Amino acid sequence: MRARIAVLAGDGIGPEVTAAALHCLRAVAGRFGHELELEELPFGGAAIDAHGDPLPAATLAACRAADAVLLGAIGGPKWSAPDAPVRPEAGLLRLRRELGVYANLRPVKVHAALASASTLKAEVVEGVDLVFVRELTGGIYFGDKTRDAVRATDLCVYTAAEIERIVRAAARLARARRRRLTSIDKANVLETSRLWRAVCQRVVEREFPDVTLEHSLVDAAAMHLIRRPRDFDVLVTENMFGDILTDEASMLAGSLGLLPSASLGDGRRGVYEPIHGSAPDIAGRGIANPFGAIYSVALLLKHSLGLAAEAAALERAADTALSQGARTADLVPAGARHLSTRAAAEAVVSSLPPRP
Ligand code: IPM
Ligand code: MN
Repeated sequence: MRARIAVLAGDGIGPEVTAAALHCLRAVAGRFGHELELEELPFGGAAIDAHGDPLPAATLAACRAADAVLLGAIGGPKWSAPDAPVRPEAGLLRLRRELGVYANLRPVKVHAALASASTLKAEVVEGVDLVFVRELTGGIYFGDKTRDAVRATDLCVYTAAEIERIVRAAARLARARRRRLTSIDKANVLETSRLWRAVCQRVVEREFPDVTLEHSLVDAAAMHLIRRPRDFDVLVTENMFGDILTDEASMLAGSLGLLPSASLGDGRRGVYEPIHGSAPDIAGRGIANPFGAIYSVALLLKHSLGLAAEAAALERAADTALSQGARTADLVPAGARHLSTRAAAEAVVSSLPPRP
């Protein structure tokens, strides 16, 4: 097949992990005989510097015209002053909103060879296989904001329609997995959460009677995630709770650098990015973990290009590389030998199956 992919490498380690992920993507496409048109575009802090806008019009237009968007990471101290007129993050939020990618899938799978890399006991994290479905285009991230010298507000808004569509996306995913859905809210305090809970209950009862639904308050969910993470299958939650809980959940897998994400809307086009940030402290050293970006490419192949076999081949190759000991600096004790970003990507490519 032919496909067009918009590549938004961004800031910090974004360009490094994206280059590694593209190396793997080209190798998969080559082996399976697909032609990819990769278009690299300015985004984030780099785009603020070059164009005064974290999401220049040409970048957004190219994303709209593409079959999928592959994103690195954005942000950094250079653009983070409290009074900065425009921040890289604003570009990311606008991109999500403009492309209508309201469902952010963040799978957390504990790789057998890495159970001991977690700060939690191996016996707690072994076998964890869960997926967060984070609502991505609503809630407190997008409500009206105000700030003067002594008072600031962020409004959290959710409509029933926004809750319905994200719950459906999560319940469909649960149906294809172990049929367990946990909805996370703060219904003992927040009105948005009370609406969330009622709508979620109704949608699952009526449309997904075969899915077991449980509601959990966000504080309790944060605890259970590290107490009994194996019990979870699919978790659905609003934007900010999902942001916080997925960083927490990444520690089950051993490193934030391992985790991918897919942001999907109603069509096929999606935005794919590792869940880690731009890590300015290690940027430019060639030591960032590319696995989150590489697994994001596998999600891209599957969800936006419909290439399930190619996605599975890449995922298996990355799993194999990890089983055989491919480790970046974040996965070894300080000072121990480790692979560079590029070498880790090479290890994945050399584990790919031959041309079918
Ligand atoms: C994420 C990031 C973003 C978010 C930031 C960079 C705006 O933390 O994708 O999780 O909060 O959504
Ligand atoms: Mn985050």
